[in-house]
Amino acid sequence: MKVNQNNSEKNFWDQIRIPSGAPISMSGSQGKSLPKLMVWLIWFVSATYVVYTLKLLSSSPSCDEDIFLSRSNSIALQKNDTAAIISSMISPPQLGEENDEKTGLKHIVFGIAASAKLWQKRKEYIKLWWKPERKMRGIVWLDSHVRTYRNESGSLPQLRISGNTSRFSYKNKQGHRSAIRISRIVSETLRLGMENVRWFVMGDDDTVFATDNLVRILNKYDHNQYYYIGSSSESHLQNIYFSYRMAYGGGGFAISYPLAKALEKMQDRCIQRYPGLYGSDDRMQACMAELGVPLTKELGFHQYDVYGNLFGLLAAHPVTPLVSLHHLDVVEPIFPNVTRVQALQRLKIPMSLDSAGLMQQSICYDESNGWTVSVSWGFAVQIFRGVHSGALYLYGSRTFLNWYRRADYTAYAFNTRPVMRNPCQKPFVFYMSKARMNYRTNITVSEYTRHIVPHPKCRWKMANPAEVDKVEVLKKPDPLLWNRSPRRNCCRVLESKRKGMVIDVGVCREGEISKVLTTKT
Ligand SMILES: *[C@@H]1O[C@H](CO)[C@@H](O)[C@H](O)[C@H]1NC(C)=O
Ligand SMILES: *[C@@H]1O[C@H](CO)[C@@H](O)[C@H](O)[C@H]1NC(C)=O
Ligand SMILES: *[C@@H]1O[C@H](CO)[C@@H](O)[C@H](O)[C@H]1NC(C)=O
Ligand SMILES: *[C@@H]1O[C@H](CO)[C@@H](O)[C@H](O)[C@H]1NC(C)=O
Ligand SMILES: *[C@@H]1O[C@H](CO)[C@@H](O)[C@H](O)[C@H]1NC(C)=O
Repeated sequence: MKVNQNNSEKNFWDQIRIPSGAPISMSGSQGKSLPKLMVWLIWFVSATYVVYTLKLLSSSPSCDEDIFLSRSNSIALQKNDTAAIISSMISPPQLGEENDEKTGLKHIVFGIAASAKLWQKRKEYIKLWWKPERKMRGIVWLDSHVRTYRNESGSLPQLRISGNTSRFSYKNKQGHRSAIRISRIVSETLRLGMENVRWFVMGDDDTVFATDNLVRILNKYDHNQYYYIGSSSESHLQNIYFSYRMAYGGGGFAISYPLAKALEKMQDRCIQRYPGLYGSDDRMQACMAELGVPLTKELGFHQYDVYGNLFGLLAAHPVTPLVSLHHLDVVEPIFPNVTRVQALQRLKIPMSLDSAGLMQQSICYDESNGWTVSVSWGFAVQIFRGVHSGALYLYGSRTFLNWYRRADYTAYAFNTRPVMRNPCQKPFVFYMSKARMNYRTNITVSEYTRHIVPHPKCRWKMANPAEVDKVEVLKKPDPLLWNRSPRRNCCRVLESKRKGMVIDVGVCREGEISKVLTTKT
């Protein structure tokens, strides 16, 4: 479970290249007039560089020979002209190649906040998204030792105990001082000195990440700059009490490497300046404010400060990749009649087929029956009686309850709609039951079966969606979806029979829109 910290020479180069990054902007003539100390520094770095290049080039597996080779070359180098070396430093081979590489999972280090008390239960959420060490790096930070099982070593990150924080003062009457420990996870993870890190991503033990989508989001940003990326709470009141400028820790947030470095230098002193704050994420935000770094909001991080059923929120996901889910212990399982973990395991199937499209909503019409259809790909299909403005169904229906239980829908930080205004409008919900790839056509086939619940009596004289048992959705995987400007897919009802409906979801064709028909409802 240990992270391989000194894995390859490739990583080692990165370290050398950090100081050598500067000469890129240097012109040759400037190079010659460098102060002596600088010349020596550059000389030293380049000597190491050449030594290691030769080491790499040497095809001999014998260690002795390697050492000999590098030694003799470093002696030869000492006699060479420093100016020549400087010029080679200005354009060293492969400069920037590693930096130009797209951000991948391997560039991310996760810092997971956990507590020993809840570990045996919560670890199941981590197992849902964690991939073994070779693909992912990360640490679970605990408050004390927990029992570990050998058969789990591959399915969980390494566990560590956070540093002692008893010297910090904590003066919030409602909160718990573990907030200080959790806030320091960024700094503690950085201090482990892992190499080739571009982003630190924080999450709780009950956060589930869609890691492919996390990578898609982080790829939009330059990891060499200061970035603090995350999202707000669903609860307007939470955002008032804390801040709309704060990344909620449970939804997860990302901090670029240079920002983490800057933070690490000041975090402990910064934390001491805010003993009255409640949690870890507001402490983080306070230090970000001191560093002058604002929150970059990405709506795919989900804190989910709600109770009840997430359905309304998930089925109307914003047009952005789904990055995380949180508070999964608090809300109902996302698929009915299974456990929370089983439900999330089911969601992993469409996630593996077409992660970019997961949860993305499109609206179309079954004109023969006069129904509106909403597809939230990989999760659910809803059929509504009548042909309504698609825009209505892009608001999440209020199947969930406010974090502050007495607050009503005015206390959400976004628009919602009532589940129904009229008994005929209650949607017929079909939950995804299976999904697969058809390897002959390379098109995903996902199946949605009707959630059987009582419906109020409807007097509209029209076809009853209750007769449909199953919906099949065809969709071509679209991994480059988010490389284009954000736009919903279009859906088309291909077939609508008594027992089943077939829908195609894909990029809208030229001129295609989710039109509102003029027929009456
Ligand atoms: C000195 O550096 C030049 C490149 O600038 C190289 O061509 C030459 O072989 C080097 N001499 C020695 C002795 O390494
Ligand atoms: C691992 O081992 C423990 C006890 O030895 C057992 O309870 C648990 O089910 C095992 N887990 C897996 C994933 O095999
Ligand atoms: C933390 O440090 C304090 C004093 O600095 C000490 O009394 C306490 O035992 C330490 N706690 C742990 C868990 O090591
Ligand atoms: C719920 O699950 C149980 C067992 O998995 C099954 O027997 C039952 O029919 C299911 N109920 C519904 C409404 O699907
Ligand atoms: C399906 O995808 C595979 C792998 O990308 C490719 O080799 C194959 O030709 C594709 N088949 C069709 C029918 O497009």
